[in-house]
Amino acid sequence: MIAVSVKPLFITIFTLSLVAAIVLLSPSPTFPANPFSTDSSTVRLEIWGVQRLVEWRPCKWWIQGHLNAPPTENNGYIQVDCYGGLNQMRRDFCNGVGIARLLNATLVLPKFEAAAYWNESSGFADVFDVDYFIQQMTSFAKIVKELPPELASKEPFPVDCSKRKGQFDYIESVLPPLLEHRFISITPAMSQRRDRYPLYAKAALCQACYSALRLARSLEDKAQELFKAIPKPFLSLHLRFEPDMVAYSQCEYSGLSSSSMEAIEAVRDDRKPWTGELANVWRKRGKCPLTPNETALIMQALSIPTNTSIYLAAGDGLMELDGLRSVYTNVFTKSALLDDQDFTNMHGNTKAALDYYVSINSDSYVATYFGNMDKMVAAMRAYKGLYKTLFLSRKAFSELTFRGLKGNELMEALWSAHKEDFVIGRGSALPDCFCESKL
Ligand SMILES: *[C@@H]1O[C@H](CO)[C@@H](O)[C@H](O)[C@H]1NC(C)=O
Ligand SMILES: *[C@@H]1O[C@H](CO)[C@@H](O)[C@H](O)[C@H]1NC(C)=O
Ligand SMILES: *[C@@H]1O[C@H](CO)[C@@H](O)[C@H](O)[C@H]1NC(C)=O
Ligand SMILES: *[C@@H]1O[C@H](CO)[C@@H](O)[C@H](O)[C@H]1NC(C)=O
Repeated sequence: MIAVSVKPLFITIFTLSLVAAIVLLSPSPTFPANPFSTDSSTVRLEIWGVQRLVEWRPCKWWIQGHLNAPPTENNGYIQVDCYGGLNQMRRDFCNGVGIARLLNATLVLPKFEAAAYWNESSGFADVFDVDYFIQQMTSFAKIVKELPPELASKEPFPVDCSKRKGQFDYIESVLPPLLEHRFISITPAMSQRRDRYPLYAKAALCQACYSALRLARSLEDKAQELFKAIPKPFLSLHLRFEPDMVAYSQCEYSGLSSSSMEAIEAVRDDRKPWTGELANVWRKRGKCPLTPNETALIMQALSIPTNTSIYLAAGDGLMELDGLRSVYTNVFTKSALLDDQDFTNMHGNTKAALDYYVSINSDSYVATYFGNMDKMVAAMRAYKGLYKTLFLSRKAFSELTFRGLKGNELMEALWSAHKEDFVIGRGSALPDCFCESKL
């Protein structure tokens, strides 16, 4: 049981800001008791104030990866084919660098003029700083912009690994065609046994992904302009509650506006939402995206002040945003911060790059999902030593609400569930390149 009483002393401990927040919160019908009350031993601080036990830092073998330079003779040339959104392409590209090093191949950067690499934007060079990349990769892997003359007219031999699963071994499957054709293009496999990679190949991947890729100058300038416009300090919130996300999740929600329901129905394919007991099982497994309401509630449980400046790192079409804005009143979007013309002329991947840049530089980052962007941002933040990173737990939220917890009991339980994640840095770094260091 959690004590709900508010000790008289408690009020004096808190600063005016918290008192003000309590006053703001108390009229809310969903959680009558104030969320800042204490249990018998602890006072709930803002989550970021909690003492952490571990921190994720770049592994030593990565930082020292340059000591193991690739052999002078290569086994051929590899070009990586990447598809999907910005962060998925980036993940595949990084995997490709690791594979190239594993096979002692030279990586050929994608043909910029072909304009196919980032599809809707015009090329790798428009998104990333190519010369910086090559320079940062020195001694980690061999990278070239152009093929040598004897191969320049050749088309790459395509090797598609994207459908391969399980114990996929690149040396077994990809080295033979590489040696035969000298120039191949690969689509990396979704899952691969990187645990078997020699450390120098893992180091090349880590270096490529988290140290060597920085945005191209013009894009970074734009991102900086956006960053400067956001009041500091601020929290970057990656909220996923778009129609396609909800339709895909097969979850049903009550209390949605009719316009949201129409938007969801419009993108629903043959995946129908679960009903009855199956819907509950599904929800309890943490499969249902958090609504803006639920997100705001959890953030309050974490004692994140309701006047915190929040940058919404999200695509267009977020639904039910009032559920967040009615609680957190300082919410900023890029469309409001950048002038209209800039925004409407912008490619989807460029917008994704702006969200990425703002999120790896914000004071704190909270995500309601654990997708490619979240993983990339969390890792970059760990790399930069920014530790205020947290993933809200859909699973904890649904389990607790199914148990019938409400009001302050729910707030306490949400706090405990997330506090544990924060203390041990769960999810706040990709384990493949970062190692725990005790604090
Ligand atoms: C939030 O409100 C408190 C108390 O009114 C104030 O001290 C604090 O500066 C505010 N923070 C922001 C970001 O406005
Ligand atoms: C790559 O080169 C390393 C030496 O740097 C060697 O140990 C390894 O066997 C080579 N791998 C392949 C696939 O050629
Ligand atoms: C590139 O974009 C076009 C049109 O937007 C689309 O038809 C095509 O499938 C996309 N290609 C890839 C590889 O994503
Ligand atoms: C969010 O909360 C508001 C006010 O409590 C309510 O009207 C609305 O239906 C809720 N939305 C969702 C998606 O639960």
